[in-house]
Amino acid sequence: MKKRLISLLLASLFLLSACSENQTESSNITTTPSPESTAAPAETTTEATTTAAPVTEPVEVTFYEPPLDSIKPAITFNVVFEENFESGASDFKPRGGETVEVTAGGYNSDFVLKTYNRTATWNGPQIDLTASLQPSTTYDVTAMVKYEGAAATKRIDCKIQQNDSTYLDCGVVTAKSGEWTELKGSIEIPAKFTSCSLYFESEYKENAQTDDLVEIYVDNIVVKSSHVEELSYEIPVLHTRHDDSFKVGVAVTAADLRSLEISPLVKKHFNSITMGNEMKPDSVLDYVKCSNDPEKYNLEPAIKEDNLKIGLKFAKENGLLLRGHTLVWHSQTPAWFFKENYSKDANAPNVSREVMLARMESYIKQVLEYCQTNYPGVVYAYDVVNEAIDPADAEPNGIRTKNNLWYDVVGADYPEMAFTFARKYASPEIKLFYNDFNCHDTTKRFRIYELLTRLKEQGLVDGMGLQSHYGLAEPTTITVMDTITKFAELDLEIQITELDINTTDNSDEGLEKLAVRYKKLINLYRQLNDNGKANITSVTVWGFSDKGSWLNDTEKKYPLLFDDYLQPKLAFWGFYLHSEIPSY
Ligand code: GLA
Repeated sequence: MKKRLISLLLASLFLLSACSENQTESSNITTTPSPESTAAPAETTTEATTTAAPVTEPVEVTFYEPPLDSIKPAITFNVVFEENFESGASDFKPRGGETVEVTAGGYNSDFVLKTYNRTATWNGPQIDLTASLQPSTTYDVTAMVKYEGAAATKRIDCKIQQNDSTYLDCGVVTAKSGEWTELKGSIEIPAKFTSCSLYFESEYKENAQTDDLVEIYVDNIVVKSSHVEELSYEIPVLHTRHDDSFKVGVAVTAADLRSLEISPLVKKHFNSITMGNEMKPDSVLDYVKCSNDPEKYNLEPAIKEDNLKIGLKFAKENGLLLRGHTLVWHSQTPAWFFKENYSKDANAPNVSREVMLARMESYIKQVLEYCQTNYPGVVYAYDVVNEAIDPADAEPNGIRTKNNLWYDVVGADYPEMAFTFARKYASPEIKLFYNDFNCHDTTKRFRIYELLTRLKEQGLVDGMGLQSHYGLAEPTTITVMDTITKFAELDLEIQITELDINTTDNSDEGLEKLAVRYKKLINLYRQLNDNGKANITSVTVWGFSDKGSWLNDTEKKYPLLFDDYLQPKLAFWGFYLHSEIPSY
């Protein structure tokens, strides 16, 4: 107790002197000296060191945090386009030869915009908004959409056609036949453009069937930009808060890295990135090259280095590290990769195990060598195998057998084979990880543990990645702790690779619950490290803002640290371990 008082006194004295020495510093992160920094320098005499009071208890580190009641940003909206068709007319035009007209009916109203006689999926209503949209500005778009047609559900897309030739995704919704659905999206208008049109279409298909050419109805379109008032305090850097324990990472897309709004925030708050899609096999494998010369590429599939490069280049240029994700996965890996002649025909035969192993080895070799040769030191961990365990499939070792072409073509040892090749080619700085979800499920955990044990015995694996797509209450902190400590028994590094908390509750109470959930988890990770119970080396959230979360499907979700307007949520402060947020 006495020691604690002394350290608090020391801390206050240090803070006072830091404040008077450097006023500007004090608005940033302030720290009390750590035992190391107060200890005598190496060249000091033994006598001097022995007379210094021994520091037996770690001195508390104080980080800058604004009072919680001051953190909510004020957001104002500026509507730049609104159309409910109640005048009975509109400036929407067809994109092709279809018919676009305002007609009776609507979403709780008298008139609606109807598009019919469509002959291609890209046919739909379009309006020129060049005069209303500003460059490098983000707009939220909402609209009520409906379709009439035989298909039970249909994806309706809202996009921006820029400079008459590029098409930017704005929002998408899956609607049911005859039912109004709200489409919500947002778009950052590029820095340079000559023209911008907003349009709606159904899911793009090269060869549209009658089912695809549904009649599209659109109503109540609103396009608005948001303005966030400048905050009265500077938001501290998130990763710095945890530099003494683990890296803090975020999953990003190529669009996030291009975004003039998102990319500076990624650089500021995180010291690790994971590419959400761009380093997965379906982005990296080069279908055009492989299928044009299947003989040449039969055992050595062609890859698209340009896609691999996006995240690596950004990370290198901005001093960040990168988690490679992922080499071998049953999902987001094209079926043609497993077929003879790289055929897209569903009935074409699969290649033999031998050929597939050659393709696997070559793919892993090419990807790893590209990373380590061109961007040495950038990739610190690679998810070699993702999601290979599913005990529900009843394979003796728990290997996922359903909808898994790796299992079909190579067999149940495909994870071992992937790790064997990865170890053969990875430079030692790249730690090799197995990555999976729901690892807290005890049966699954047991099977993963067995797989890791086999891999570890052969020196093939360095770490276990827990995806950690969680709910607000489940799994409990205790269960997460048990799971991590179980894997840590194997003396493997642990990384939290895809953390997000699935919630639809954006009320003040909901946001508070989310913040508490994050704080509890982050506290747990730190404590496990502090107590030597685990070696958690990085914690990655799966997405920068709620707006870009993969969890937004039929319902809007609020799972992440930054909101739709890229402002830090209470959850950010939970992750930051803000002292006003309860942690137990
Ligand atoms: C899994 C994968 C990730 C990502 C998420 C959903 O967790 O490992 O790459 O696809 O699903 O976005």
